[in-house]
Amino acid sequence: MDRRKFLQTTGLTLGAGSLPSLVPSVLRAEPPASTPAAAKFPAGFLWGSATASYQVEGAVKEGGRGVSIWDTFSHTAGKTANGDTGDVADDFYHRYPQDIEMMKQMGLKTFRFSVAWPRIFPNGTGQPNQQGVDFYKKLVDALLAAGIEPYCTLFHWDLPQVLQDQGGWESRDVAKAFADYAGYTAGVLSDRCKHFMTMNEMRSFCEIGYADGRHAPGLQIGRKRMAQLNHNVVYAHGLSVRAIRAHAKPGVKVGLADNVEAATPVIETPEHIEAARHAMRELNAMYQTVIQEGRYTPHYLKTLGDDAPHFTQEELDVIKTPLDFVGINLYTAHYVRAADNEVGYVSVPAPESYPHMYSPWLTIGPEALYWTPKLVSEIWNVKTLYITENGCSSADKIAEDGHVYDTDRVMYLRNYLTQLHRGVSEGVPVKGYFCWSLLDNYEWADGYDKRFGIVYVDFATQKRTPKLSAHFYEKVIADNEVK
Ligand code: NOJ
Repeated sequence: MDRRKFLQTTGLTLGAGSLPSLVPSVLRAEPPASTPAAAKFPAGFLWGSATASYQVEGAVKEGGRGVSIWDTFSHTAGKTANGDTGDVADDFYHRYPQDIEMMKQMGLKTFRFSVAWPRIFPNGTGQPNQQGVDFYKKLVDALLAAGIEPYCTLFHWDLPQVLQDQGGWESRDVAKAFADYAGYTAGVLSDRCKHFMTMNEMRSFCEIGYADGRHAPGLQIGRKRMAQLNHNVVYAHGLSVRAIRAHAKPGVKVGLADNVEAATPVIETPEHIEAARHAMRELNAMYQTVIQEGRYTPHYLKTLGDDAPHFTQEELDVIKTPLDFVGINLYTAHYVRAADNEVGYVSVPAPESYPHMYSPWLTIGPEALYWTPKLVSEIWNVKTLYITENGCSSADKIAEDGHVYDTDRVMYLRNYLTQLHRGVSEGVPVKGYFCWSLLDNYEWADGYDKRFGIVYVDFATQKRTPKLSAHFYEKVIADNEVK
């Protein structure tokens, strides 16, 4: 598709001379020559979008792929909205060439995808499946040919079912199997892909999958087992960082994509900012804090009491293996205020009237995109950060004229990006931003009802229609500036 054709899809061409008639002529004037330089991102800022294997690929029985816990879970009656599964999803497995062409037309500089573990090791361990390896090599080559830098996540929740049958993330053997898989996969892709994230959102797949059971594997294992599982997962992460470095070509960068609990000062006064600093460490004690510091906070261990995990110093050293970058997935803010208590903060819960996007959990807190990377870099001296996910769900509909006017998503992105810009212009070392998501896709237990794409997908025909937000984002990328 050439650029003109892409823009014609919605008719919302963005060049000054060709804006559609719905824009009043007074708004069609050229911008003033003196657009404030302050709105610009640094040259080379990496604008991208993100997806995940089970959410977009489909083709679950093709290419020698094994069964994942999400195949099992989504095919279990009553577990997902409308009984939706990822069997077909966006059919990205077959349509990635066209989707990459679309990314290129939008000007994306980078794309974050994930590898489905059961495509590489259908049985979790053992003999690798060459067809799976070849698929991801072809995907990466197509991205590179389009001038798009690939960022690869090694685990975005599609655990091989055989490994869940052996205890899943509660098992030490599974932690070791993950490191073997991660090392092998990074090894075979590292001649062409230079950035790897070990895991996506540990907190989500642990707590939603094993504590409240709304996600695969749908268990409720209780507090004690959860604490040990959390420890096992960060241990698996640490082992995998070492395995990737042992197998990948020199120069490869390793990080993770963590949904850091986004402690945000309820008012930007010194005492509430200090409270957010304390909260950042405590709220993330079992994930980012132990990964960065190699120790659990005394408050975390004390709160768990007899349910605290068993661990050794050697394991903590593995968990603390240094990273090249930290990826932050950020959607909502966790407001805190100062308090005269043991930890120096209390959480401020959202009142019932607090505004949210189409997913009820997705409350709007743009300034979290300023505070979270800032606090993470300051507290742990992190030198390279990416926003590995940010975006929102909307009740998108194709209008009679064929366009999708997701003005609420544009509002969301504009506000969050303005806060990101605030941080970057103050020197917070965020090097890139990945919008979640490129395409409407399989939103886990919410099925296809909750659309997160900047490109609309008609799941009956697989037709892609860039939404208003895609044009907004295209303009941000082209000008390296929030509009
Ligand atoms: C985080 C997850 O990584 C992604 O898979 C999910 O679709 C988005 N958040 C939106 O819920």
